[in-house]
Amino acid sequence: MAKRDLLRITDLSREEIDHLIERTAVLKSRSKKFRTPPLQGKILTLLFEKPSTRTRVSFEAAVLALGGKAIYLSSEHTQISRGEPIGDTAQVLSRYCDGIIFRTHAQARLEEFALNSRVPVLNGLSDRFHPCQILADLFTIQETLGNYQEIRVAYIGDGNNVANSWIEACGRIGFQLALAFPPGYDADREVLKETRDLYPDRISVFSDPRSAVSGADIIYTDVWISMGQEKDEEQVRQTFAGFQVNSELMALAKPGARFLHCLPAHRGWEVTEEVLSGPQSAVLSQAENRLHFQKALLEMFIR
Ligand code: CP
Ligand code: NVA
Repeated sequence: MAKRDLLRITDLSREEIDHLIERTAVLKSRSKKFRTPPLQGKILTLLFEKPSTRTRVSFEAAVLALGGKAIYLSSEHTQISRGEPIGDTAQVLSRYCDGIIFRTHAQARLEEFALNSRVPVLNGLSDRFHPCQILADLFTIQETLGNYQEIRVAYIGDGNNVANSWIEACGRIGFQLALAFPPGYDADREVLKETRDLYPDRISVFSDPRSAVSGADIIYTDVWISMGQEKDEEQVRQTFAGFQVNSELMALAKPGARFLHCLPAHRGWEVTEEVLSGPQSAVLSQAENRLHFQKALLEMFIR
């Protein structure tokens, strides 16, 4: 059977996403050990070109819990740092292990890596997408609201990798997605068009975050400056003024709406401490659920 990669959410069908979310619930509730651990005898490599807390540790812990072994490689300690082509790295690493989780600067680099790998490659974040995060977030939403289709999600802030994956998730699931970006910080135009063509009435882009959050079940934000996209901080603060998720903005959402953030968060920038640590915030369960979801993902992709 040909190997399969997860480079973006559109690599999965709607049915596969449903299966993964159902399976995550089972894996989260399961306290006993597996009779035959699904990753017994398997080796997974985590190759990271950017820092990580959640993605790294949740994947490593998931691999260990499923009976496999994990090797973590920071790219600066590999020959990548001395200019070895990414295709050569992929060809060699994929002869040593059964799957690779790659966090990288560029989606094109991830695609080239996957093309040269004999074993499945999972996107651990690129400049364009963060599929494992948003798929795990769908589970958190299922757990919190009871479903992930009849909902309205408001994404406020930078049109980055996280926003692009939200747009692709909307294209697969068909929930209502309201986005608000400051001028010049839009999401990927191509990704937006693909989802708009599928669901023209389910996705809307606002310039005013207050319109986006109106009636929302989920308010989501992410950092204003992503890794590898360092900019003038003062300029960014000025541009994003009005896009902070604070109590006033939360008050415009549905009563009982929940706040999500992929973390790490910058208090006083994209979100206030009051919201991040307040009763509507589900960010810690959200972070925990990366672990449970990724177990389901590894079961599906690593054979
Ligand atoms: N949310 C997330 O991917 O966090 P890390 O950068 O810590 O992995
Ligand atoms: N958009 C952020 C997500 C971090 C998990 C970044 O790429 O830095």
